[in-house]
Amino acid sequence: MSTTTKRAYNFNAGPSALPLEVLEKAQQELVNFNNTGMALMEMSHRSKDYEAVHNDAVARLKALFAIPDNYEVLFLQGGASLQFTMIPMNFLTPETTASYVLTGSWSEKALKEAKLFGQTAQAASTKENNYRNIPSLEEIKFNDTDAYVHITSNNTIYGTQWKEFPTTGEVTLVADMSSDILSRPVDVSKFGIIYAGAQKNLGPSGVTVVIIRKDLLEKANTNIPTMLKYTTHADANSLYNTPPTFGIYMLGEVLKWVENKGGLEAIEKQNEEKAKVIYDAIDNSNGFYYGHATPESRSLMNITFRVADEELEKKFLAEAKEAGFVGLNGHRSVGGCRASTYNAVPFEACQALANFMVEFQKNNQK
Ligand SMILES: Cc1ncc(COP(=O)(O)O)c(C=O)c1O
Repeated sequence: MSTTTKRAYNFNAGPSALPLEVLEKAQQELVNFNNTGMALMEMSHRSKDYEAVHNDAVARLKALFAIPDNYEVLFLQGGASLQFTMIPMNFLTPETTASYVLTGSWSEKALKEAKLFGQTAQAASTKENNYRNIPSLEEIKFNDTDAYVHITSNNTIYGTQWKEFPTTGEVTLVADMSSDILSRPVDVSKFGIIYAGAQKNLGPSGVTVVIIRKDLLEKANTNIPTMLKYTTHADANSLYNTPPTFGIYMLGEVLKWVENKGGLEAIEKQNEEKAKVIYDAIDNSNGFYYGHATPESRSLMNITFRVADEELEKKFLAEAKEAGFVGLNGHRSVGGCRASTYNAVPFEACQALANFMVEFQKNNQK
């Protein structure tokens, strides 16, 4: 580590930890990018220097995520939340139905937007189980005539993650992968659309990645505002208007970092190891800590848990904060504790948290 600043044990849910190497490289290049005498942020988005950064990020994402040639990669703005709107706006009509699998608050929000544009159905829901699990593939119901089926691959708030994805045949499968994109290899060809806000595994907030199969672009609704049409951005290589240039540069640097880590198989293995030390601290605690998610649906990205005694939970969060662990409070809607262990969170931080949990239990068990 060349920086003299001590790095926090950053378990934030998003925006979240970025690789130190990426931050340091950005720092070095910040004022004078490529010997241009300018910061990248000061350059025209039509300049050669910026275009090279932009196209390189697209190409790297295609290679790293093994995106087939019949897909477009778009860099948009408005967060994953705007995708909740753009997807039905482009692909749903008052006469058609989209089916949503409800696995948490983000899927609920996505469904709410779709209702503004057409008919909707619940393909499955685990709400009754307080979103502790992902439904089994057999539970998912949809019709051959559906405009699409929507899922949320990782539920940031509840800490659950799909291990296997449904096969939807001719019906387009759409996935919000905001909180686990690039955490593992994925068979992109199963999906018509994958989208993700960048601020967890991809870079800083401000960029939204959309991976969309080209044939869908031809089928999209046309009577919608220019900026909200996928075709507008696909036709212009995401340069129809000014893109978030610095965010896209950072995304490109994060992709290089993932490549240097050994790609997605290696990243997945590291993520499994990182999550395991924390889940082990929960599972070996004899109920002092307990997880929210059912074991088979546990997320490798967001580890949600409680301290069985409510007073002790407050003490745990306060002492953890004191000890330098950042972002361990559960989402404001559910409370409890959550450790987000995205790609850039090092194993050492997870091990340190697990050690802290064991020590806290020893000191506080009644
Ligand atoms: C799974 C998921 N979907 C959507 C969102 C909303 O993303 P944004 O803030 O980029 O609109 C989040 C944010 O945390 C998320 O975790």
